[in-house]
Amino acid sequence: MSSRSIYARLRPVIFALAPEAAHRLTLLVLRCGWSFRDAFPVSDRAILRTRIWDLEFVNPLGLAAGFDKDAEVADVLLRSGFGFVEIGSVTPRPQPGNPKPRVFRLTEDRALINRLGFNSAGLDRVEANLRRRRAAAPEGGVIGVNLGRNKDSAEAGPDYLAGLRALTPLADYLVINVSSPNTPGLRALQGRDQLEALLAPLRAELDGMEGRRPPLLLKIAPDLTAEDRADIAEVALAQGLDGLIVSNTTIERPAGLKSRFRAEAGGLSGAPLFEPSTALLAEMYRLTGGRLPLVGVGGVASAAEAYAKIRAGAALVQLYTGLVYQGPGLPRRILIELAALLRRDGFATVADAVGADHAGLSPPTDRRDQASERSD
Ligand SMILES: Cc1cc2nc3c(=O)[nH]c(=O)nc-3n(C[C@H](O)[C@H](O)[C@H](O)COP(=O)(O)O)c2cc1C
Repeated sequence: MSSRSIYARLRPVIFALAPEAAHRLTLLVLRCGWSFRDAFPVSDRAILRTRIWDLEFVNPLGLAAGFDKDAEVADVLLRSGFGFVEIGSVTPRPQPGNPKPRVFRLTEDRALINRLGFNSAGLDRVEANLRRRRAAAPEGGVIGVNLGRNKDSAEAGPDYLAGLRALTPLADYLVINVSSPNTPGLRALQGRDQLEALLAPLRAELDGMEGRRPPLLLKIAPDLTAEDRADIAEVALAQGLDGLIVSNTTIERPAGLKSRFRAEAGGLSGAPLFEPSTALLAEMYRLTGGRLPLVGVGGVASAAEAYAKIRAGAALVQLYTGLVYQGPGLPRRILIELAALLRRDGFATVADAVGADHAGLSPPTDRRDQASERSD
């Protein structure tokens, strides 16, 4: 029986549980080391491999932040086909997040609404989990670390700095998350002045560190004004950010949502987010002149959607909600079909297709790594 039909049978059982209970059960099963580990067609490996910053990605499809907030199951997830896993958001001190219920399945809309509010085990626990993982000598795979702030801390800056200091040695890349809709005031950090004030000390801290410095990314919301979008692009380039993640969940409620949960407060993810997040991705690619690697996320549940993100400007793609509806066989299915789509259109690598929908703009290459990328 294929992984798709196994999941189709299991889904009603899983969906009979409350969303957070189902998630906890999934993490428990994954912690026991369970995973789909189907052989990956060798012919697809070369076309899907991609090098960004100084990192080798076996494929461009990652698991988005929020699934493995406390870094408990990253290696199992890598083994089920993802090319990279972003853990977090992690807050400096442990915090419980908002009162339950706080996650809702909009099944008819292939969507979720969550207002978790950064439930996190905190930096110490996540650091210990990442150290344990490293000591177990995993096979590789890229681990991103997404940083958040505590709800009750007076200022955001010191929280992000604490996260950066604690987890830089354990992160292949770092994400400053200023776009979750469920922490009051967080998204205001995307305004020009606030963003500059937030990012400058983080950049300086990283630049002053000895040894390897992980790339620093910013994760943005889909609900930005035109002025915000232009400001973010300018600040990102001026402050030497290494990339943008586009996008987080939306507080908009697009017309046509059917589920009775559609009016719940929180961030909407899944199918209805695909169009607005992809439009924002394309715009950020244009505003940054294709000079900054972008990670496209929002509503991806098929190879066609992953490919559309790449053509719109994404060097890497992530998903979360698609996994809830389609199960653990999804990454492998997407990757096999994505390789076929790239081949159909005459692309030899993922990198060749990045930004293909933008005439006259070249794909983003890493500023620190251009030479080695070309000689590969
Ligand atoms: C239940 C849930 C929790 C999330 N938690 C986080 C988080 O802690 N940090 C973050 O940056 N994004 C978080 N996200 C947003 C996802 O990383 C992603 O940006 C968003 O869901 C859009 O992708 P999707 O449509 O594929 O789910 C969360 C999403 C969901 C559904």
